[in-house]
Amino acid sequence: MDNLSRRNFSTSLLQSIFAFSLVETLATNELLARPIHLLVSDWMVEVEAATRAVRKQPLAQSEWQGKIAEIFARVEPKDLLRAIDFDRLHRKLKLVGPQEAIIDVEPARRKGLPPELSFDAMIYGMKKGAVIPPHCHRNMVSMHMPIGGALHGWHFDRIADEADHLIIKPTMDRALTIGEVTTVSDEKDNVHWFQPTGEVAYTFNIAVYRLDRAQKFGGRQFYVDAAHGEKIEGDNLRVKKLSSEDAYKIYSKL
Ligand SMILES: [Fe+2]
Repeated sequence: MDNLSRRNFSTSLLQSIFAFSLVETLATNELLARPIHLLVSDWMVEVEAATRAVRKQPLAQSEWQGKIAEIFARVEPKDLLRAIDFDRLHRKLKLVGPQEAIIDVEPARRKGLPPELSFDAMIYGMKKGAVIPPHCHRNMVSMHMPIGGALHGWHFDRIADEADHLIIKPTMDRALTIGEVTTVSDEKDNVHWFQPTGEVAYTFNIAVYRLDRAQKFGGRQFYVDAAHGEKIEGDNLRVKKLSSEDAYKIYSKL
């Protein structure tokens, strides 16, 4: 197979893989406007393999981020997204209050997958004024992909920890596009924050909690006041740790 046809083949395979996965995810929650039947399950197998590798550490966390980006960067989700019944998604998610609403997704078991997957899949929804306030993570990697509405995203590298503050460095501050991959890890872009810029926003999420199972904690660690930091050397900011209550109070517009 020459380079061009190999690339075409991979692109089309990945499109099918992506389509299958997201369709399956949404179908689990009966969110498709009409049934779609696709027969490729390799996407979940690939994510499972990458996640197992990052848990056992032959794969660095930043390499997991690169692998996820590599899978999804070549995907054109437009056709699939036309099939999603966003009205039903909206009703199912019950978007009330300043916080994000989450649907846990349990993908159907397919050949090549172990009985227990190493990652969780979810759909997040936010209505206008709600927010995922700036927060950091420990012992966790995750992906958020906008699948509907309009969303602004911020990322920061975590440079250093202090008793009541974090030193962070801005790495992203822009509107996100549908189908775009954003990821966090302990190594790169550890802090993120999302705000809808229209009436609503939805993201497809893959989360890998407690990467190192020997450690007790692995997840969203604590909130920080990323928008009101003290500018220090370079682009770095010293930002205050926040309680969940204060974070939603400061960052939601409800
Ligand atoms: Fe997060």
